[in-house]
Order: sequence, then C-alpha cells, then structure tokens
Amino acid sequence: MKTMSICRTAAFTLAAVFALSACERPPVDAVQRGYRGNGMEHVVNPRLLADKVAQNMPVDPEPAAPVDPALPKASLVYQNVQILGDLSLPEFSRTMNAMSTWVTGGAKPENCNYCHEGNNFASDALYTKKVARVMLSMTQRANQDWKAHVGDTGVTCYTCHRGNPVPTMAWTSDPGYKHASGMTATGQNVGGVAAVANTSLPWDPLTSYLLHDNNIRVQSGGALPQGSDRNVKDTEGTYALMMHFSDSLGVNCTYCHNSRAFGNWTESPPTRLKAWNAIRQVREMNNTYIGSVADILPAHRKGPLGDPLKVGCKTCHQGAYKPLYGAPMAPAYPGLLAVMKTTPPAPPAPPAEPAAAPEAAAAEAPAAGH
Ligand code: HEC
Ligand code: HEC
Ligand code: HEC
Ligand code: HEC
Repeated sequence: MKTMSICRTAAFTLAAVFALSACERPPVDAVQRGYRGNGMEHVVNPRLLADKVAQNMPVDPEPAAPVDPALPKASLVYQNVQILGDLSLPEFSRTMNAMSTWVTGGAKPENCNYCHEGNNFASDALYTKKVARVMLSMTQRANQDWKAHVGDTGVTCYTCHRGNPVPTMAWTSDPGYKHASGMTATGQNVGGVAAVANTSLPWDPLTSYLLHDNNIRVQSGGALPQGSDRNVKDTEGTYALMMHFSDSLGVNCTYCHNSRAFGNWTESPPTRLKAWNAIRQVREMNNTYIGSVADILPAHRKGPLGDPLKVGCKTCHQGAYKPLYGAPMAPAYPGLLAVMKTTPPAPPAPPAEPAAAPEAAAAEAPAAGH
C-alpha cells in the first residue's frame, strides 16, 4: 500500500516536472518603468536574458573605420555598379567583404560566388545579386529615412541575415493549417504558431497588418453596439499582432502601453511611437522592396501561396528590445547609410570659349572649329 502511494507520488512529481518544463524557472526580476502604483513593470528572467544576450552578439563588435573617401571611385574601374559606384575602391571592397560575412557567413572567395558568377563580377546572371541590389537600397532607405525607428544604431544586412542567405525569422502568408483529420483550418485556434507566440489567436496577423495596412484597433469610439466601428475580428487580429510585438522584442505589453488604457497615446511610453513608425517602415519594406523581387525569386524561395519571405518585427529584433542589443554596426559602413545611385561619368568638357563679347562668342563659337 505504502509503496503504491510512494510510486504514485513519484509519478505525480515526474508528471509535474514535465508539465512545468515549458514554464520559466524562477526567480524573475521586475523593473519599474512607469509612475509608481500604475503597475508598469517590466518582468525579466535573468537566466533566459543571459542566453538571449549571447545569441544576439554583433558579428564584428568593433569594425574598422571606413576608408578615406578621397581615394579613386569604384565606378572608375568597375562596369556594373549602379548603387555603390561612388564609394572609394577600397571602401567598395570592404563593403563586399562585409556583405559576404553578413549574408553568407564569411568573406572567402567561394562565398563571393553566392552572388557572383565565377570571376565575372560585373555579370548579373545570378538572381541573388539582383536581390542583393534591392536589399542595398532597402537598407540605405532604412538608415537614411526611418531614424524615428532605427535611430543612429541603424541596420546592416547582418541585422536580419546573421550569416544566413535567407533570414531565419522571415515569414510568408499562410494558406491554412491541416489537421490530422485532413480538414484544413483557416485563421485561428491551433496554438503552436511561432509568429503569434504559440497562442491560439489568428496565426497570420502579419499579412493584415505588416503587408496590408488594416487598422490596428480594439477600442471603439462609440457605445456598443450602434456606435461601434470595430468588430471581434479586428480585436483578435490586433491582439495576435501585439503578441508578435511582445515576443519579437522580448518585452511585456507595458513596454509600450499603460495597461489601464491600451489605446490612450498620452499615457503610453515613447517606445509605442517608435513601434508605430516601425509598423509603417516594415510595411514599406514588404511592399516596395521585397515585393519588387517576387518575380526574380525561384519558386523554392517562396511560400506556399507563391509570395516571397517577408520582414516582421522578429526578423531584426530576434527577442531583443533593440536588435543585437543596440550594437551600432551600420555607422562604420558609409555604403549603407544613405540612399545612393552611382553618379554617371561627367560628359566631356565643352570646348574653351574664345575671349570675346558674349553675343559675338555665341555666333562665332561653331566657326571656331576646335
Ligand atoms: C550578397 C551578395 C554579394 C556577395 C556575397 C558579394 N557581392 Fe560583389 N556585388 C554584389 C552586388 C549587388 C554588386 C553590384 C553593386 C552595385 O550595383 O552598386 C556587386 C558588385 C561587385 C563588383 C563590381 C563588378 C563590376 O565590374 O561591376 C566586384 C568587383 C565585387 N562585387 C566583388 C565581390 C567580392 C570580391 C566578393 C567576395 C568577397 C563579393 N563581391 C561578394 C553582391 C555581392
Ligand atoms: C530587414 C531585413 C533584411 C535586411 C536588412 C537585409 N535583408 Fe536580405 N533578405 C531579407 C529577406 C526577408 C529575404 C528573403 C526574401 C527575398 O529573397 O527577397 C532576403 C533575401 C536576401 C537574398 C536572397 C538569398 C537567397 O538565397 O534567396 C540576398 C542575396 C540578400 N537578402 C542580401 C542582402 C544584403 C546584401 C543585405 C544588406 C545590404 C540585406 N540582404 C539586408 C531581409 C533582409
Ligand atoms: C513594441 C510596442 C508594443 C508592444 C510591446 C505592445 N503594443 Fe499594443 N500597440 C502598439 C502600437 C504602436 C499600437 C497602435 C498601432 C497603430 O495605431 O497603428 C498598439 C495598439 C494596441 C491596441 C489597440 C488600441 C486601440 O486604439 O484600440 C491594443 C488593445 C493593444 N495594443 C494591446 C496590447 C497588448 C495586450 C500587448 C501585450 C500582449 C501589447 N499591446 C504590446 C505597440 C505595442
Ligand atoms: C530593419 C530592422 C528592424 C525591424 C524589421 C524592426 N525593428 Fe524595431 N528597431 C530596430 C533598431 C535598429 C532599433 C534600435 C534603435 C535605437 O537604437 O534607437 C529598433 C528599436 C525599436 C524600438 C525602441 C526600443 C527602445 O527601447 O528604445 C521599438 C519599440 C521597436 N523597435 C519596435 C519594433 C516593432 C514593433 C517592429 C515590427 C513592426 C520592429 N521594431 C521591427 C530595427 C528594426
């Protein structure tokens, strides 16, 4: 009898260990971020945070300074530089080396061939090179025009790629979920979908809100039901997106909201405004830049609905409130900081004007014959 109950206790303890293994082991720390008494606390688990910090280290914590821009331009030597041609020759090479490390995991000659066909560096035969050119423009635009979100920390290819040709935390629109029964569920109630932090909320809020610009709203302006301009679908979708935000940045809802009034902007911390800009920036990335490469990507690089892999908050943040915990890699690479187009070579200098009165010169110039 006694052995039996010991066995049962042991079995119960074991079951409990398994059941709780998905939970976070204490202790946790709480940091007060708002006025006292309003519950705006940030809860962190120091042990998990240490792991996350280790996973989010910059590839090159102290990049060398950019090369002297006064040296001859890359466009003097290279034939097909549409974007980076105004960089000095050594700075151009430095940028190619960095791109190889950031996107393919190393600057070895065989890695250059991920984008370049053999030794013909000017050729655009590989689709990866054409995609990389679009990516250069996207990164330059981010650093130049979206400072309200990315600040002076900025972004490099590494922010998303982390040494992989295809970023691990990108997403595609989801056509549905096949149950074991063979039936396809659309929308929600499955759980286990990473994009919405394993909740059973709608699993693809990203298409609605980070590709399309549906309104991210729960609270209605009027009394229910007549005055309401919101519906249950908006509510579920908004909460699903908010789970994506919290999970991507590794923060609680109170990082951006005072939870007594989620919708109220005057009571929200400034981080919410950064997030508002982030939403608009990510929509632009997905439509203007990634949208433009859809036709050149091979089928195996696309999602089940034929759309390219897109950017979400997790693509850059990867669980950190600032990507790579704010390590500023971009400022060391002038080729990534501003939108660029190679200046076309200057037209040949006009023939020297003869020293005469302006009207006379205009009439005589063609006859001067030199
Ligand atoms: C992730 C893709 C990618 C990788 C990897 C890469 N490149 Fe490039 N490379 C490009 C793109 C895009 C351009 C065109 C830039 C432009 O239009 O301004 C380019 C242009 C060049 C050119 C100019 C060729 C010409 O005549 O127009 C040279 C030289 C070059 N790369 C060398 C290298 C070397 C060396 C490596 C390896 C260390 C390398 N690249 C790795 C994408 C890449
Ligand atoms: C904001 C995130 C982000 C940044 C920054 C970024 N990329 Fe990408 N990149 C993506 C996503 C998402 C894809 C997959 C979709 C696609 O192929 O267009 C991708 C795909 C690519 C591919 C195609 C790889 C393949 O095998 O199909 C290349 C090459 C590439 N990026 C190069 C670059 C370079 C070079 C930079 C920096 C100048 C850069 N990327 C910056 C998100 C990013
Ligand atoms: C990184 C910042 C951030 C985090 C974290 C975040 N939110 Fe939000 N939330 C926003 C922004 C920005 C908006 C407004 C978006 C817009 O107007 O385009 C918003 C909107 C909302 C709304 C709609 C308010 C209205 O006007 O109807 C609700 C509700 C909400 N969030 C709840 C949450 C919950 C619950 C969490 C935690 C699971 C959370 N948020 C986490 C930034 C954040
Ligand atoms: C292209 C990469 C990239 C993407 C995608 C991205 N972020 Fe950011 N985000 C950054 C960088 C870089 C910073 C750091 C800015 C700084 O140092 O001031 C940042 C900072 C923030 C901050 C401010 C954090 C703080 O404590 O000051 C918030 C909030 C934020 N991002 C929200 C989002 C949300 C929400 C999304 C998705 C809609 C998103 N980000 C997508 C690059 C990105």
